[in-house]
Amino acid sequence: MSDGLEDVVAAHTTLSDVDGGAGRLVIRGRSLDDLAGRMAFEEMVTLMLGGLLPGLPSGTALSAALGAARTALFPIVLRMPLPANLSPVEALRAWTALIPDGEDAGTALTLLAAPAVFTAAAVRRARGLEPIAPNAGLSQAADTLRMLRGDRPSAAEAAALDAYLVTVADHGLNASTFAARVVASTRAGLVSAELAGISALKGPLHGGAPGPVIDMLDAIGEPGDARAWLEAALDRGERLMGFGHRVYRVRDPRADALKAALRRLGADSKRLALAEAVEQAALAILRERKPNRPLDTNVEFYTALLLEALGFPPEAFTCVFAMGRTIGWLAHAQEQIAGGRLIRPQSVYVGPRPMQAA
Ligand code: ACO
Repeated sequence: MSDGLEDVVAAHTTLSDVDGGAGRLVIRGRSLDDLAGRMAFEEMVTLMLGGLLPGLPSGTALSAALGAARTALFPIVLRMPLPANLSPVEALRAWTALIPDGEDAGTALTLLAAPAVFTAAAVRRARGLEPIAPNAGLSQAADTLRMLRGDRPSAAEAAALDAYLVTVADHGLNASTFAARVVASTRAGLVSAELAGISALKGPLHGGAPGPVIDMLDAIGEPGDARAWLEAALDRGERLMGFGHRVYRVRDPRADALKAALRRLGADSKRLALAEAVEQAALAILRERKPNRPLDTNVEFYTALLLEALGFPPEAFTCVFAMGRTIGWLAHAQEQIAGGRLIRPQSVYVGPRPMQAA
């Protein structure tokens, strides 16, 4: 047994490989540098799910099918009121649970489209605004931003969101993907696997970290105040959000992919300078305090900056992560269904035993 299943191998996969020592991510045989910023969400769907989902369209037919799926989902947000106190990711999960389960391409298309419609509607609902209907003719990234903000995004903004979605599409057997594979292995269906993925992702130790990164940057305010603020946070026993990783012992390559996307977008240079100062101070302090545990920048740090620059509020960042990661969850679920057995490990019982007869 290994605490947290660290280093335990639990699946064979053809989908992605995380090299934590070298800081390299390979997806379907291609390096992340070859994918992020070079392809759209739709092309990533084809790369990941091609051959795993019979009947899944590609090219313009895939884009049209996703647009049609977004349109078909929109009545859910109009007709299904939710309790006012649900966070955006809880709203995403609740609306997703209304999709009928299945293991077919139609169900997968609906799940790929759902975070676009539900994220935008959840954010607008929290602001007391009416949801905006999808435009089936747009790409998923452009339509997501349009439904969120009400205006048509620039090509650079849509490209930046595509770069983000591609960057986070898959990442080995992370906690949410493992959860999705466990549920898929019971043959419960892709909707159930997606719900397991969303539920695992929302935790702050996984996909819930980028919102707190914004809180940290806002609380620090000025580059010169970074060190004192970070030292005080660690003294209180807090973790620095956006740093550390179970697998990477060096810098997460996705951090650089997202920083490059931010630069291409021409994001606010003052904000970026603050983030860089905080990052440098955090890395120096973590090296001093944890000399035996290499802790470097992870994907969530620049996720926060990029999604903020695109107009997403911090409380919705995890929903956008879920949109990209849905590609990976579905691909892993299909791989599990096609070749895997029921996932059912053992535990070591350390509780009391019934009294033995003398
Ligand atoms: N800040 C301060 N200390 C840290 C951090 C951090 N961000 N991350 C790890 N440490 C310390 C721990 O306190 C621990 O110290 P100790 O041995 O003195 O007790 C040591 O490093 C090892 O930590 P573990 O919890 O064993 O590492 P684990 O592999 O379980 O955790 C995790 C990985 C959860 C990502 C962790 O680094 C963390 O909490 N980071 C902050 C949250 C975050 O950024 N999450 C997003 C991760 S990326 C993703 O999931 C998409």
